[in-house]
Amino acid sequence: MMDIRFQAGGGERWKAEAVLAFFFEGEKVEQAAPVLEQAVPWLSIAPAWRDFRGKKGEMTVMYGPAAMDIPRVIALGLGDREKAGREDGLIALRHAVGGALRLCRDHGLESVAVEMSSLERIAPVYGFDGPGLAREIALAALLGLYRYERWLSVKKDSSSDPRWLAFLFREEHVNDAVREAARLAEAEAAGLCLARDLANGPANEVTPAFMASTAEELVSRFAEWGMSCHVLGPKELEERNMGAFLAVSRGSEREPRLVVLEYSPRGAEGKPLALVGKGITFDSGGISLKPSAGMAEMKGDMSGAAAVMGVFEALGRLAPGWTPPCPVVGLMPCTENMPGGRATRPGDIVVTMSGRSIEIVNTDAEGRLILADALTYAQKNWNPGGIVDIATLTGACAVALGKGNAGLFANDDTLADLLHAAGCRFGERNWRLPVWESSREILKSNVADMVNSGAREGGALHAAFFLSCFVEEGMRWAHLDIAAADTGESPVNVRGATGFGVRTLLDAVRSAQQWRLN
Ligand code: BES
Ligand code: MN
Ligand code: ZN
Repeated sequence: MMDIRFQAGGGERWKAEAVLAFFFEGEKVEQAAPVLEQAVPWLSIAPAWRDFRGKKGEMTVMYGPAAMDIPRVIALGLGDREKAGREDGLIALRHAVGGALRLCRDHGLESVAVEMSSLERIAPVYGFDGPGLAREIALAALLGLYRYERWLSVKKDSSSDPRWLAFLFREEHVNDAVREAARLAEAEAAGLCLARDLANGPANEVTPAFMASTAEELVSRFAEWGMSCHVLGPKELEERNMGAFLAVSRGSEREPRLVVLEYSPRGAEGKPLALVGKGITFDSGGISLKPSAGMAEMKGDMSGAAAVMGVFEALGRLAPGWTPPCPVVGLMPCTENMPGGRATRPGDIVVTMSGRSIEIVNTDAEGRLILADALTYAQKNWNPGGIVDIATLTGACAVALGKGNAGLFANDDTLADLLHAAGCRFGERNWRLPVWESSREILKSNVADMVNSGAREGGALHAAFFLSCFVEEGMRWAHLDIAAADTGESPVNVRGATGFGVRTLLDAVRSAQQWRLN
């Protein structure tokens, strides 16, 4: 991964093969980057300014003499300043940075930099302070360079990735808040890239056992800071009466795993926050088989679990310098959903760990089954202060909110508001949808306590309501349906998994104090 560095002491001390400079539409270099203009003697007379307008998506490389300490400035357009504060303004900024880093890679540049006082200038437009925006830029740079190359017999040439990104300071000392911000971005990038790798990985590699060994490897690096892992196999799931989880796994030759990560470092106090991620490593639909068109995408049906894993990677990387206010538990029920000879049939009735029975009328509504038992297990074992689950749960949510967006459901307004704000701020947009009692009718069974799937209309709501039935009275809970959110293609995301949810969940951990005490 590209390094984040710092250079202090002003223009005479700065050195990088390219510097990124940001422009709102119509701005001149002396307005947008006066400090850079001072430091780079050739900059104001670079001929290419003549055609640069600062429009959204515009990118022009300004060239100076090759022998200069700063021989290039990459001018990036951010569009209309008045409009930049709106929700998609920050997206344009992230894309500009991702695109610029890809350009640096294409040109084989080893180093790239951003001058801090120019960031301080534009940060308020986006509702950030300087360090906050530095974090966004560092992260966008790292994500822009991400690619999934695991199975390519000839790897793309990674030696041409920039080796470092530097933040440039006029002052003699590096600002500690920017250092912190960069560390946070690096931790987030590591978490996001792990989540992407897992979700991009094919189901013949990323199996339930692979998810377990990934968690074990992760913990082996962070154990000294208070991270631990345990894994439950079929026997343990049987002993704990997780009938719904086991029902989903029955059609597969591969054994299920309930992967549990725990982080309780010194200083983290009180009840834990539980994060529960759907880990269907492949969703064929089971006996209620899906159509073959697009079925390959169902290798990504463990994106929720991948996001939880990513959060723990980030938490580990932040240790021991930063400690969450409360312990964190991550639960990842992992299994395939397959139509084997022993597979659960439509009409089968199972008993969940909670004791409630479910008539499985559609084996393709499997996510809620594994989550039901995972939610019960989380509550029985840890009595958490709050639970957030994240799952590629319903096509209906994808239809409702569109690609890149998540549905948010919650029984607690403080928690919901916090997750919504974090999602908007960190490029993982979610929108709240209701959990309504009226779903109860729709999920009525005539032979069991409930069915696992009801009407097509409002499918995302019924799924969320189903989950809420396994949340005990008084327990704070939120559910993110990321069915449409985990795939994308943009300058900060090669086509495939996005790692959606890592940043939002990490923020929920960071602000656990707020929602727990309210
Ligand atoms: N994993 C799917 C949901 C999904 C669909 C995720 C498309 C990403 C893209 C889930 O298990 C599923 O099959 N849901 C069904 C539920 C239905 C049977 C009630 C769906 O949405 O069709
Ligand atoms: Mn399904
Ligand atoms: Zn599924």
